[in-house]
Amino acid sequence: MARILITAALPYANGYIHLGHCAGAYLPADLFARYARLRGYEVLFLCGSDEHGAPITIAAEQEGISPQELVEHYHRANAEAFARLGISFDYYGRTTDPLHYEFAQRFFLDLLHKGYLEARQEEQFYDPVANLFLPDRYVEGTCPYCGYEAARGDQCDQCGAYYNQLELRNPRSLITGKPPIVRRTWHWYFLLSRFQKVLERYIEERADQWKENVLQQTRSWLRQGLSDRPITRDLNWGVPVPLPEAQGKVLYVWFEALLGYISITQRWAHQRGTPELWQQWWMEPKTRYIAFIGKDNIVFHTLMFPAMLMAHGGYILPDNVPANEFLNLEGQKFSKSRHWSIDVRDFLADFPEEHAVDALRYTLAANLPETRDADFSWRDFGARTNNELVAAFGNFVNRTLQFIHRYWEGRIPTVPEHFLQQWSQLAEGAWKGTTLQFGEGWSPDERTFLEQLFRKPPHIAQLYERFRFREAVTETMALARAANKFFNDAAPWQVVGDTPELAARALFICAQATGTFAVLFAPVLPFAARRLYALLRLPVFVGDPEEKSGDLWRRATQPLLLPGHLLGEPCLLFAKLPEERIERQRAKLYHAVETAMKSSASAENTYATLEDLQRLGLRIGRIIAAEPIAGTRKLLRLQVDLGSEQRQIVAGIAHRYRPEQLIGQAIVVATKLKPAVIRGVESQGMLLAATTAEGDPVLLAPVAEVPVGAEVR
Ligand code: 2FM
Ligand code: ZN
Repeated sequence: MARILITAALPYANGYIHLGHCAGAYLPADLFARYARLRGYEVLFLCGSDEHGAPITIAAEQEGISPQELVEHYHRANAEAFARLGISFDYYGRTTDPLHYEFAQRFFLDLLHKGYLEARQEEQFYDPVANLFLPDRYVEGTCPYCGYEAARGDQCDQCGAYYNQLELRNPRSLITGKPPIVRRTWHWYFLLSRFQKVLERYIEERADQWKENVLQQTRSWLRQGLSDRPITRDLNWGVPVPLPEAQGKVLYVWFEALLGYISITQRWAHQRGTPELWQQWWMEPKTRYIAFIGKDNIVFHTLMFPAMLMAHGGYILPDNVPANEFLNLEGQKFSKSRHWSIDVRDFLADFPEEHAVDALRYTLAANLPETRDADFSWRDFGARTNNELVAAFGNFVNRTLQFIHRYWEGRIPTVPEHFLQQWSQLAEGAWKGTTLQFGEGWSPDERTFLEQLFRKPPHIAQLYERFRFREAVTETMALARAANKFFNDAAPWQVVGDTPELAARALFICAQATGTFAVLFAPVLPFAARRLYALLRLPVFVGDPEEKSGDLWRRATQPLLLPGHLLGEPCLLFAKLPEERIERQRAKLYHAVETAMKSSASAENTYATLEDLQRLGLRIGRIIAAEPIAGTRKLLRLQVDLGSEQRQIVAGIAHRYRPEQLIGQAIVVATKLKPAVIRGVESQGMLLAATTAEGDPVLLAPVAEVPVGAEVR
């Protein structure tokens, strides 16, 4: 029997998972896991929280809590969201597990002893205020190539150039906004470059099975030539590097998170009371390992992780890495900062019903970004619920069960014995790929529909095996539509009076089809499938962990419901989604963005910019003459030397400074203010002064000698 290990990318425990994440990795992984279990394969499906790394320490700091508290919160929240979404992990672990620390440290030491790690000096930006070496995503500056001012630490979004962060001009830390300093440090490097050749072979051997997008990215990295990668960081949150000379260093989050897949398997094995069992999943060549991820994680899983596993030795390698592209939301990229997102937990708060969760899974599955970016929209969600789940699949099941209850008291109608025998042969023939030989007595409508009912399940299985879930789900729904059409064409309500045996045949066929659907829809609609099995009074198999269904997928086209079998009371599998409910969600989404935009716009307005400061034209001047203005108590008329020119300035400081005191004094002047006439005297600028507690002015002066005219910034 096939044994398949399935993992889904470990989500960072510094935020809630959203629908984009689900479409990228978690739903496809679950579709595959459920399908594989229903085929009777031995499946282990694992995931867990990725709980280390600088983003987590920074988020914790911003929220004023410890990193441990932060990951605790998101770990729980995400584990719960996955469970309610019906993602059928055998185990959901975490990288703060002590088993993980132990394993990752042992793995590191093993690579060190085998000579695959090397300590190297390097210079890096350091934020002296945050006391942190700055990872690339936390530095911004001017692109050394095109001059773009908001270039990222290692890449320019304007010209696309890649560079070392030290090449950035005018760098600033995104944590404190301050310019970083350059500091020398040292790190352990994983000698990835040594794996160039074996990785090339590894990829090309599997190329005919792998997705184009995954191959493209991986090959492009290989073409550029692999370079050695630092796998440690100066940080105090993470798995400590297990060497006395490495105080204050932890394993780089990517390095240890990948090992999380293995340590989580160990935890799972421990909890079952069979601690050694993890090895059969990671070390026996008969296990196939499939790693589901989104497109931003590709090379870590196709190059880095395989190289790590090869370096250690004894482990199997990913057999396939079916990464998806990105899901957009109503035509735009998901963005948490812009509030353009739907978190799973927000969805669940507004749609707690299980049939709505199924509808979400279905809509996402039908729009999976398998070959290119795809889109989720609320209106599509509404339309698919109402037109496909309710009107096609749900309606077919409901009509069938209602009819059987009405005319046969809820029992599967009787059909001739030879009919049943032929059915079995035809269904089995479809699996073997032979032409279906319908004998005498099958009507053209019956043949047309049964041909599909028998042929589609093996075809859909092929699609699952090739990770084409979108098509698999679309084909399943097409079969439900065909079933509805068959019911309509057979019109049992018309024939049941005069030729009840015709109606009985039609309903027998429809009833078997509902049984087939319980199995075929189970990967995508596990909640509805569970209820459908109950309605049909069949044992429930929806591809959950630990189920022992055998190859139910293949049995699904055999007669599952024999004549006389009593069905449960019919009830609806899905509920129509009223348009208002959809429109409310759209309004909420668009409203959230507007509010976010407004508040960031008003934040923009409350901050002065550097340009604002420059517009004042602040300069150092020297007072060369001063006299009181007659008829006033506070005003002095001053002549100020600005180097290139002289200005007359009126200042309200006479109650504080005597004129003769001021001669020769250096001061700060705002030179670009509009000239004003005060008590009949023109003032061509303004002095800067601070105010004492009593409200008296104190002139500002430079603390060291500077030439007049010097710019103040
Ligand atoms: O992109 C992410 O959410 C990463 N935390 C994925 C890590 S996958 C693996 F390394 F565990
Ligand atoms: Zn640039």
